[in-house]
Amino acid sequence: MSDTGYVPPFPKGWYVVADADEVPGPDLVAFNAFGRDLVLGRDADGAVRATQDLCPHVGGLFSQGGRITDGCIVCPFHGWTYGPDGRCVAIPTGEPIPDRARVRMWAVREREGRIEVFHCRRGQAPDPDAEVHDRR
Ligand code: FES
Repeated sequence: MSDTGYVPPFPKGWYVVADADEVPGPDLVAFNAFGRDLVLGRDADGAVRATQDLCPHVGGLFSQGGRITDGCIVCPFHGWTYGPDGRCVAIPTGEPIPDRARVRMWAVREREGRIEVFHCRRGQAPDPDAEVHDRR
C-alpha cells in the first residue's frame, strides 16, 4: 500500500518488521508493516532508522537505491536529504527547501535480533511497554 493511501486500523504497538541481519548497513531496505511501505537502514553508529518508502519531492521510492549518510535519508533520484527528524535539510541544486518537504520517521528498537517499529494511528509517543506484534 502506498504511504498516501488508506491505512487500516492496526492496533498501537511495536511491530516486528525484520530480523536484524536483514538491515545490514546504510542501504535502505523495503519492508511492509501495519499497512505501510517502509524503508529501514543503519546509521554509521549502527542505529536503525525507519521512514516511509516515498520521497515527497516527486514520489521516488527510497528503496530504489536510497541510503543513510551522516544520519540523513538521501533520496537516490535527485539527492534531497532528510534529517533525523524527517525534515528536508538539503537539496543539491540549491533550491530553497519547501516548508512541507519532510518524511515521517518511526521510532525503532532492536531486541533479541529483531527490529521493531512503533506504530500508533493517533501519533502517541512510543510506549516501551506496548504490545509486540509479529506478523511477518
Ligand atoms: S524523488 Fe526524491 S529527490 Fe526527487
